[in-house]
Amino acid sequence: MQTKVLLNDRIVEMNQATVSILDRGYQFGDGVYEVIRFYNGEFFELLPHLERFKKSCEEVGIPFHFELLTLQKDISNLVKSAGYSSGYLYTQITRGTMQRNHLYLNEKNLEPQLVAYTVKEEQRPFENMTNGIKVLLCEDIRWLRCDIKSLNLLGSVMLKNQAASLDAKEAVLHRNGYITEGSATNVFIVKNGKLLTHPANNLILNGITRQVIMALAKELHIDVIEEAFTIDEFRLADEAFTSATVSEICPIISFIENNNEFLIGNGQRGPITEKIQDAYTKKINIETKLFNPNVTRS
Ligand code: PDD
Repeated sequence: MQTKVLLNDRIVEMNQATVSILDRGYQFGDGVYEVIRFYNGEFFELLPHLERFKKSCEEVGIPFHFELLTLQKDISNLVKSAGYSSGYLYTQITRGTMQRNHLYLNEKNLEPQLVAYTVKEEQRPFENMTNGIKVLLCEDIRWLRCDIKSLNLLGSVMLKNQAASLDAKEAVLHRNGYITEGSATNVFIVKNGKLLTHPANNLILNGITRQVIMALAKELHIDVIEEAFTIDEFRLADEAFTSATVSEICPIISFIENNNEFLIGNGQRGPITEKIQDAYTKKINIETKLFNPNVTRS
């Protein structure tokens, strides 16, 4: 079956979904995006994602002329038409199409273009969640508005591929001696039973998974300190993990630095990471009705 695409307010076949090459998303990366997971046919944390989508548009001055409820209905219909119940939705809004020019302020006829499609992802990333991942430590070469989920991802793309070329699953980034986040994930460390993560400012994307983790940690009475931590604190952490919508919560078991590999803690998933993963799984199951806590067996 062909992938269906939501193009503004119409669902069409992938090969019918065409956008001009003069679209500013193509010319400048002038747009923003979201990636939203669905399990069991139900979106996980849909509203926070849509609200962030709207906020990214506002930050870059793209008019968000979509009613959240209508958009919610449209993307739910897209998921229903996909023919599978587990996967993720990619969606982007670009500023629109015009003759290439950095300046768009005088352009009267710009119409933002929304595109959305789904990708099948039957399984959660159990292997990485259990066995953990190796990462590459590298300098954060991205711009200074990482809080906007912008289509301009060349820095992240370069860093991720640099990591992959050394057989590492993610690049963990540092700026001025402090860990910021991963190329496509947030980063947490555990020290003396407390969680540390970079504050949600212009240097990181305030991940939805990150926010869920912080709320779950509170429920579990695990302290979370939203403060930048140094590269050294990362090296000497008891545990570390990445978080993101599709890759979920992955223990970092080792890192590469100056062509050498070093372990984090004892090089295995740690107990706090596992506790948070379990709470996250429970939340997914409840929110997506995979498990109904109100039904008890007789
Ligand atoms: N990446 N930080 C960066 C730089 C990211 O690109 C992402 C997500 C995150 C985690 O955000 P969230 O928990 O809301 O998924 C943090 C997406 C999924 C991507 O680019 O594919």
